[in-house]
Amino acid sequence: MSQDHDQKTITVSVRVWRQAQGEKGGRFVEYEVADTPLEASFLEMLDILNESLVEKGEDPIAFESDCREGICGTCCLVVDGLPHGPSQCTTCQLQMRNFEPEAKITIEPFSTGAFPVIKDLIVDRSSLDRVIQAGGYITVHSGPKPEPNSVPIEHEIMEDALDASACIGCGACVAACPNGSASLFTSAKIHHLALLPQGQPERNTRVKKMVEAMDDEGFGSCRNYAECQASCPKGISIKYIGRMNSDYIKATVLDTDRRGSMHAT
Ligand code: FES
Repeated sequence: MSQDHDQKTITVSVRVWRQAQGEKGGRFVEYEVADTPLEASFLEMLDILNESLVEKGEDPIAFESDCREGICGTCCLVVDGLPHGPSQCTTCQLQMRNFEPEAKITIEPFSTGAFPVIKDLIVDRSSLDRVIQAGGYITVHSGPKPEPNSVPIEHEIMEDALDASACIGCGACVAACPNGSASLFTSAKIHHLALLPQGQPERNTRVKKMVEAMDDEGFGSCRNYAECQASCPKGISIKYIGRMNSDYIKATVLDTDRRGSMHAT
């Protein structure tokens, strides 16, 4: 979709989901955004549109963003039917040069049963926070700070844990899943701890609490569509879902934490 032309600006028409705060339904509204600089990001295009709406005395489009660097995970927009849009990056990293001149772009919120719309393009994703609160942390007292090299961790395991920890909790996996499952998010949050020595003592209780919290929040179950992996801006692998399910079964059968007895695999 990227282009190589001499133009410095682009004119696009956008079809945006507008929903008033407190309302159950909404509608698409079309706007033209003329002369957007080609070097603008997608969110900057929305800023330009909002400035023009404010100048006309209209309500600007509500959408979330914070870092605009692909770190915080707040810029949750479905662009042309895809969470975060056509490139495998966050919405804030999407560039207008990726769109054809006079493109018609549809923008919707990350709306699923567990992510109700607050206003326009903003959804309530606090259900993901509650899954973390259920057990996505380490509470064991680790004593005085040990010398880092006294706890050797194999390079492969460390890389695996770092890959899982790349999850920014944006919820694209949930929005992409036909079943609205949060399995990719939950399994990544479980495994960046479960793979490391510090995460072992609470490994069983953590997986039980987080999987049960995920179910309680109304997320759907995983049916192996793998749309979550395809839409994840951080490339989190669905292998963590398989490991989460395996850990959950072990934890349910054992029904207790076995301090240090489960290997970091
Ligand atoms: S605004 Fe932070 S990841 Fe997009």
